[in-house]
Amino acid sequence: MSSVRARLQQALGELIPVLDIVHGPVEDGAPPAWCEKRGWTEFLLALRDDDLHRCEEHGLEAGLRHLPSAPPELLALAARARQATILPRLSVPAFALPPAALRGVPARKREQLGALLGVAAPLAAWAARVVDVGAGSGHLARLSAELFQRETVGLERDAARLSTARRRTEQRAQTVGALPVRFAAADVGPHRLDLERTDLAVGLHACGDLGDRLVLAAAAARCDLFLCSCCFQKIATPGRAMLSRSGGTLTLEKHVLGLANLTSQAAGVEASLTDNLRGREARLALRRLLQARGLDVTAGEEMRGVNRRRAHAGFSELATKVLTARRLPPPTATELRFHTEDAAREHAAMRRLALPRHLLSRLVEVSVVLDRAVRLEEEGQSVLVAELCDQRITPRNTVLVATADARRLPAAVRT
Ligand SMILES: C[S@@+](CC[C@H](N)C(=O)[O-])C[C@H]1O[C@@H](n2cnc3c(N)ncnc32)[C@H](O)[C@@H]1O
Repeated sequence: MSSVRARLQQALGELIPVLDIVHGPVEDGAPPAWCEKRGWTEFLLALRDDDLHRCEEHGLEAGLRHLPSAPPELLALAARARQATILPRLSVPAFALPPAALRGVPARKREQLGALLGVAAPLAAWAARVVDVGAGSGHLARLSAELFQRETVGLERDAARLSTARRRTEQRAQTVGALPVRFAAADVGPHRLDLERTDLAVGLHACGDLGDRLVLAAAAARCDLFLCSCCFQKIATPGRAMLSRSGGTLTLEKHVLGLANLTSQAAGVEASLTDNLRGREARLALRRLLQARGLDVTAGEEMRGVNRRRAHAGFSELATKVLTARRLPPPTATELRFHTEDAAREHAAMRRLALPRHLLSRLVEVSVVLDRAVRLEEEGQSVLVAELCDQRITPRNTVLVATADARRLPAAVRT
């Protein structure tokens, strides 16, 4: 059995017995059935704040290892989930990118682009054309065209991003001359993605459906592929069926796929862990306030019509904004006080009860990426699944490289 297929079987061997946990998000302070069944409730609810913080920042295994009262089955699950998700790290030097070509590109994105272009270089040297799918503002396609001097096409469905991509390319061309890149409007899915055998298809943070479509199109064309996945839950269907035969009949529902976006670390990509926790508590307080006013609001719906980042402003401001948007009277001081205190209590229990589910986030992510890799392998491609860069640069750092010629696979080292 190939190593990637063995890795998929190992990951699914861990995931399938705990599907009840991944399918049971903690949406209120009541212990979920999976937690009661395994006898973990009492231990989790009694966790001290500092132990909870350690788990949330460094993962459950690191956070609980020193506690003699920690349920051995829980620690063993954490250790096995970690083992099943260890990936090699790509060991290709990053491409030195011309600073003038990176104006307006955020620092973390620059590091990803340097790492990615370093890995893509040997693949691009062989390819007749580079196709960047979900090109966003076009940084990858523009740099790839400039550095590799290959015909490059950036496909993007968002009109505003498309025009930014074109504008930035024109600006850069004023300094370095015309670049062999064009950007085309395409909604991949409704629009067919036709790739050629000699293409290098790339997707940097190609979300949800788009990643799967890219994999299937690359498998059909048997062309080289470089895919860095993210946001698996952004799919048009209620669930994602496995693409590979080895993945079997397993379908992961949207909210399970969303779990893969969670990362245990103090500094998130958009906000710190502390800000995220404060935001979640504010959303819970808001949901309880709306329910107390007689509205039927399920978890997540409380933010309807309001940008989710608004929650970081705190409960009082958020409640005022949301009630105004719903044309309801503003929150009273009594409501604000009551729901602030009530949500603090409930959220403290939810954070503790959610720890076992959260420890499975990387397992969900790696299972999906391995499934994609195995599908390509089943079509005769050589594949590599690895980490592109440190998770602090981007938590969505898994990459899948597929090629018809194994000699083009990048080097990777065990972590
Ligand atoms: C997370 S962004 C990544 C953008 C860019 N690759 C980057 O790394 O900066 C994903 C991009 O894919 C685009 N996208 C998502 N689904 C798409 C689809 N079905 N067809 C075309 N573009 C799509 C989105 O509009 C968005 O610009």
